[in-house]
Parts: sequence; C-alpha cells; structure tokens
Amino acid sequence: MRKKVSIVGAGNVGATAAHWIAAKELADVVLVDVVEGVPQGKALDLLEAMPIAGCDVHVGGANDYAATANSDIVIITAGIPRKPGMSRDDLLQTNFKIMSDVVQKVVAQSPESILIIVSNPLDAMAQAAYRQAGFNRERVIGMAGVLDSARFRAFIAQELNVSVENVTAFVLGGHGDTMVPLARYSTVAGIPITELIAPARLEELVQRTRDGGAEIVKYLKTGSAYYAPSAAAVEMVEAILKDKKKILPCAAYLQGEYGIDGYFIGVPCKLGAAGLEQIVEIKLTPEEEAGIKKSAAAVKELCAVIGV
Ligand code: NAI
Ligand code: 2OP
Repeated sequence: MRKKVSIVGAGNVGATAAHWIAAKELADVVLVDVVEGVPQGKALDLLEAMPIAGCDVHVGGANDYAATANSDIVIITAGIPRKPGMSRDDLLQTNFKIMSDVVQKVVAQSPESILIIVSNPLDAMAQAAYRQAGFNRERVIGMAGVLDSARFRAFIAQELNVSVENVTAFVLGGHGDTMVPLARYSTVAGIPITELIAPARLEELVQRTRDGGAEIVKYLKTGSAYYAPSAAAVEMVEAILKDKKKILPCAAYLQGEYGIDGYFIGVPCKLGAAGLEQIVEIKLTPEEEAGIKKSAAAVKELCAVIGV
C-alpha cells in the first residue's frame, strides 16, 4: 500500500509541496484548506498531470479532515504569510489560532502520524503544535533549517561557480533574524568554505542567508517564498518515508541538548521512519553557542506570548 501524506493549507507552499511529492512518486497526497474548491481544484489539476509525469499516486483535495484519516505524515502550512515590511513574528497570534485548530483536527484523524510544521513564526508554531498534539517529540518536527541551509548552499555554489551538489552547509538556531549559519561546518567537496571564501565576503553571504526570506518577500510583494520552502519540507518527508536516517537541520524540541530545555530550535537531526530519531550534538565555538542561545531566547519570548 502506498504511503499517505496530507498537507493542510493548499496555498503556495502546500500546493507546491504536493507537486514535489507527487512528481517524486513518494506517496498519495491529500490537500486540505478552509477555502472551498481550492484544494479540490489544485488536487485535480495535479492528478491530471500524473499520466504525463508517469507517476502512480493519487492526489485529492478536501475541506474537511475525514479525507486525511490515517496519514503517515501531515505537513502543516496553514496560516498567513508575511507581506513586505512584516517580520515572521508579526504572524504570531493569527497563525497560533489557526495552528491550534488544525492540529486538533489532524490528530483526531491521524493519531499515529508524524507532523512537519511549516507555518511561521516557525519555532513557536512547532511548539504550539507539539503542545496541542500531545505527541512525543519524535513526531513533531519543524521545517526551516533545510530551507535556510539550501539558501546558503545556493549562494556558496554561485560564488565559487561549483555544483550545488558539492556544497554542504548548516544553518542552525531559530528561523528568524537570529538564525546561525555555521560557516565552519559548511564545505565544498569536503573543503571548509572558510578556506575558499574571504571572511568579509563570507559574512556577506551569511547575511544574505539571514535575509533570504525577506529578499523574496520584497520581490513578490503579496506573499513569501514557496518553491524552496516546499522542496525543503519534501526532503524531510522523503527522509522519513524512505527511512533514510538522513541528517538535516530541523527544528526539534530540545530537552537539554545544546543547553536548551523545553523549546524548539534548529539543530542537526537524524530523520528516519520514526521521525526525529536522533539529535546530533556538535561542538560549537563560544560565539556559535551564544548565537544559538540568543535564538532560543527569541523563541522563548514568542512562546510566552501565546502561552505554549
Ligand atoms: P498561502 O497564503 O499561499 O497559503 C496558506 C493557506 O492556508 C491558504 O490557502 C489559506 O486558505 C490556508 N488556511 C488558512 N487558515 C486555514 C485553516 N484554519 N485551515 C486550513 N487552511 C487554512 O501562504 P504560503 O506562502 O503557503 O505560506 C504558508 C505559511 O508557511 C505561512 O505562515 C508562511 O509564513 C510559512 N512559511 C514558512 C517557511 C519556513 O521556512 N518555515 C517558509 C515559507 C513559508
Ligand atoms: C522564508 O524564509 C517566509 O519563512 C519564510 O522564506
């Protein structure tokens, strides 16, 4: 039997994630949204593309959650995206209400599922989902680090005119202005980028990564990025469905790791069939550690506002 992935929020990120999942033939997909007709219409359109793509998966759309029953994974992208001038944190109250409602309905239908949270502000929304779901931490994971690291990788590959496949990079911490791109752990064919790019230029690439979301909002004006975000969420889906034991930077609920207890923050995670199978603790410099702590303090502040 094919695996089943439901996606709540059939907007830009949700619908594009459905596209990637179907095109990779990873699972049957169910799109859910509050807007009548939109998940049904987008799902049908995708379903009709499958003979051309040569992919045997079913794609369906619905406004109620019965269609999501017994999903293996549920990606939650429901909420509002930011507009120019807004920070991710400006979305807090609206998206918290949506997240609480959505998670309750998702869990009722798929009590054994793994949740991948995408809605912003990411780390606080992951925390809200974790509290609402009552799942263990292995089954609630936030998507941000894969996206932020992909941005960093793209900029490094462009800078050095090398294949993106040669570039590995790690961005940890919260998904916001306090994210922590780890240049020291970023490599090109195994060579640390600190040996290939001058410090001042590297700092520019790091800053562009931190501003990566805002750079796209500025161009789009009416919404935020969705191709790279949806691809990032689907990389996590693939790692779980294929039990790849892949190490990816994800937002995880920390219980003492990195000196942080009781909050979601981006750290290296091993993803496999059980979801979050291990948090990998790497040695950080005092400066990097301070960066992660600063991120955690920002997440803690947001969580306090919504009481999660
Ligand atoms: P969008 O506006 O295109 O789609 C959001 C969808 O959620 C809409 O179709 C809307 O009708 C739906 N929705 C709203 N309330 C709902 C509810 N109660 N139940 C079901 N569906 C509901 O926005 P987009 O661009 O897809 O972004 C979605 C969220 O993901 C935003 O909060 C955005 O900030 C966040 N995001 C996070 C990223 C990350 O790295 N973690 C990256 C990109 C986006
Ligand atoms: C991004 O980084 C909006 O958080 C989203 O593009």
